[in-house]
Amino acid sequence: MSKMFSERTSRIIGGVLLALLLVSLGFAYHVRARQQGDDGGSRILKLGHGLPTDHPVHEAMMHMAERLAELSGGKLQIQVYPSGMIGSEAECLKQAQNGQIDLAKTSTAVLESSVPEITAIGLPYVFRDEEHFWKVLNGPIGKELAERLPAMRGLVYYDAGTRNFYTTKKPIRSVDDLKGLKIRTQQSRSAMDMVSAFGGAPTPIPFGELYTALSQGTVDGAENNLPSFETGRHMEVCKYFTFSEHVMVPDLLVVSRATWDSLSKEERRWLQTAADESGVLERKLWAEADERALARAKELGVEFIKVDKAPFAKKMEKLYESYTGETADLIRRIREVK
Ligand code: GCU
Repeated sequence: MSKMFSERTSRIIGGVLLALLLVSLGFAYHVRARQQGDDGGSRILKLGHGLPTDHPVHEAMMHMAERLAELSGGKLQIQVYPSGMIGSEAECLKQAQNGQIDLAKTSTAVLESSVPEITAIGLPYVFRDEEHFWKVLNGPIGKELAERLPAMRGLVYYDAGTRNFYTTKKPIRSVDDLKGLKIRTQQSRSAMDMVSAFGGAPTPIPFGELYTALSQGTVDGAENNLPSFETGRHMEVCKYFTFSEHVMVPDLLVVSRATWDSLSKEERRWLQTAADESGVLERKLWAEADERALARAKELGVEFIKVDKAPFAKKMEKLYESYTGETADLIRRIREVK
């Protein structure tokens, strides 16, 4: 009996220890180079973000981690903490700002509390099309904004497609259907103002908590791009998806200024190269993820609704008038980019 007991106990203890080991190994996505640094040491940069691991932006950042390890011969490595493991996007940003973590990936919408004029690139229908969007981001405006972040520096913009409304029960067939609907927004003032201007009731919720909020009816709907609609499993609960295509808000990878300043010239070059390469890859992955999400949503019986966007844009006129100073200047400069 006691022998049986001790065998069982040791099996249980063994199991617990194995589980702990797996948890600690699997806790973060850590890309280890085959080769260690010359002196055997390596520096591990911590990157936090809020998206799931099957999201194209996460996949692109995993590629960046691999490339950085390769380029630096193992001296610089990246440990990625996805899915809000170490905090929501807003919290990860704060940690990067304070130098508690080295890198954070965020939607630029979340940055507007630190850089108010960044609001301009997240406004409804501010870009004519994708070509205009990339011309602005990869041109002087995008570069200036990336340099203006407090205690941080932007490394690369990622495609985050166009955002559209989706709802659990009531389909949005015209802008008037948004009236009174509780719509989840990002943690961003302008996203909240936009939903109010459309007639909805804005409810800011971190991305990681949205699936539950939709399932429990805390909100009637949300707005996002197709890959997030899929990987966040929102399509399991939202049966209506309206192509309002109201904003194109990019994602941005930022590095803490403290980290950047502590890197040598060569290390900065490795990091920037790996980030740039991940940006190119991400746009390819994005296109694939968009198609996959559309097909999967159709399989799940989601109804896709096409709308006339002119009445949606019309509702935004007052919102535009409310911006002054640097934000208004930036809106004008964006529109002037041909
Ligand atoms: C997009 C964006 C994310 C953001 C999310 C959200 O998916 O890429 O960075 O977290 O929207 O709505 O919160």
